[in-house]
Amino acid sequence: MLCLVYDSLTGNVRRFAEGVGAELGLPLGRVQGSPPAAPYLLLTYTFGTGEVPESTRRFLRAHSAGLRGVVASGSYHWGPNFARAADLIAAEYGVPVVAKLNKGGTAADRQEVLRWLREDAVARLTARTGEPRWNAGSN
Ligand SMILES: Cc1cc2nc3c(=O)[nH]c(=O)nc-3n(C[C@H](O)[C@H](O)[C@H](O)COP(=O)(O)O)c2cc1C
Repeated sequence: MLCLVYDSLTGNVRRFAEGVGAELGLPLGRVQGSPPAAPYLLLTYTFGTGEVPESTRRFLRAHSAGLRGVVASGSYHWGPNFARAADLIAAEYGVPVVAKLNKGGTAADRQEVLRWLREDAVARLTARTGEPRWNAGSN
């Protein structure tokens, strides 16, 4: 399964990521921490006026290869810029927006992210077992 990497200033994203990680037993790391050991789902927040936090940008510049999807938090208060970091990252790196959270998100958001992670895990397993397991050789 994927691991989770998050960025959080005031704790909303951290708490959400910890809840999801605990439910599925996934490794969890911060963008400021060690490089992710596996492909990952990124969880971050929106800063400035609909912007991606600089700490998240820096992390992505170094580790975009493992990025598989993005969750971003924001606040409805920001209207059209609500959780826009998710859209910016999805467009720049060609990955899906898995969820947009108002602040710490809801139980429904959490279920949606869990569902996506489980489906992604099944898709990976299917892709792997669908590969040929032996080589017929030249005989
Ligand atoms: C200075 C500042 C700018 C923000 N700008 C936006 C914004 O443009 N769009 C948005 O949806 N939320 C915006 N937010 C709200 C945060 O993204 C939101 O509170 C988020 O849950 C913070 O996540 P964290 O608690 O994990 O740091 C802003 C918050 C601050 C403090």
